[in-house]
Amino acid sequence: MKTFFMIKPDGVKRNLIGEVISRVEIKGFKITKIKMMIISPALAEEHYGEHKDKPFFTDLVEFITSGPVVAMQVEGDNVVMQIRNLMGATNPSDATPGSIRGDLATELDKNVVHGSDSDESAERELNLFFSE
Ligand code: RTP
Ligand code: MG
Repeated sequence: MKTFFMIKPDGVKRNLIGEVISRVEIKGFKITKIKMMIISPALAEEHYGEHKDKPFFTDLVEFITSGPVVAMQVEGDNVVMQIRNLMGATNPSDATPGSIRGDLATELDKNVVHGSDSDESAERELNLFFSE
């Protein structure tokens, strides 16, 4: 099974690439594709399309395009759900210590990582980021 996983611009700026990747690898998952890139506004709007009517959409697109991200394809057993568990709750205030967001973040809009929330999202997002 495969998922799309990404270190967001705040994580890259804070030099957390190694820390985050280490947690994914130590857990036992395989990173089978990886690239550093700057997300275009068009890709950001497509990626976060499910949120286009939310009040935070403009800020979300601005943030995710604000600097380099590290985009990955990660493989392993039940990887979509297990990566979401490693990430912790969306709001770092609610994220359990031991999770990436619980250990490394304090603010909802700078929560270090993204991971697909279903097999369907994973396929869609992997196609968006790794189609070429
Ligand atoms: P992500 O897509 O980034 O992995 O995060 P997620 O599934 O845990 O959360 P989601 O509901 O998809 O929200 C996407 C990102 O939008 C920001 N957000 N802001 N101001 C707000 O109420 C609000 N709600 C969500 C968060 O940064 C979240 O990661
Ligand atoms: Mg999401």
